[in-house]
Amino acid sequence: MSPLAHRILWYPQVGSTNDVAGALAEQGADEGVVVVADQQTAGRGRLGRTWASPPGAGLYVSVVLRPPSHVAPLLTIAAGVAVADGIASATGLDVQLKWPNDVHVSGRKLAGILAEGAPRYVVLGIGINVMPAAYPPDVATRATSIESELGRPIDRGMVLAEVLAALASRYRELSTEGGRGVIDAWRRRAASTLGRRVEWDGGGEARLGLIENIDEDGALIVRSGSELVRIRSGEVRWI
Ligand code: BTN
Repeated sequence: MSPLAHRILWYPQVGSTNDVAGALAEQGADEGVVVVADQQTAGRGRLGRTWASPPGAGLYVSVVLRPPSHVAPLLTIAAGVAVADGIASATGLDVQLKWPNDVHVSGRKLAGILAEGAPRYVVLGIGINVMPAAYPPDVATRATSIESELGRPIDRGMVLAEVLAALASRYRELSTEGGRGVIDAWRRRAASTLGRRVEWDGGGEARLGLIENIDEDGALIVRSGSELVRIRSGEVRWI
């Protein structure tokens, strides 16, 4: 059993597992409590989006963490690496990362991470598409699932166990050894995206550039003409 999963609460249906885990954290829940649901009726994604969470089609998971201050800045990058590594271990798929922590296979999104809370706790929300489902049309063209990619059924419990074990391991590494290993692992998983042309919103103005790297703080470094731009939050669009 992963040290980050000494207590797993599994619900048939919730609004958002992040809300359930956040309420538990507010009530003093220990680090490592995990909330899982078969279905979410109000699943949230990054940047105010919804996260389609049809019954049984995905893993909808939230983990309560209480990170020391030196761990917090790289936590979401480390979580992306852990989710990618865990899915790769459970499935053998060639899993890629898109900054900051979207998990892709074959150029389509397979999993995403939403970190909420702070400063006393962080709820790390992880959504993984396991089975093909009736996603809304805008999602369907950009998303994939583990079973669509593998062409066979997969045990959701095994995927969850691998992801939680990888998360525990990266979290421990970040706490005790710093961010070097996490950054290197992120670069390896994102190697195919380095050099890629992207567009982003730079203070109300659309900007274009080529991805160079991520820096030691997890910020994305993009070359735009002769300028190197450091993007700390938000998203970039592949073009
Ligand atoms: C993203 O936009 O890529 C992040 C998606 C995060 C979805 C997960 S599913 C479990 C947890 N509960 C939520 O409401 N959101 C996160």
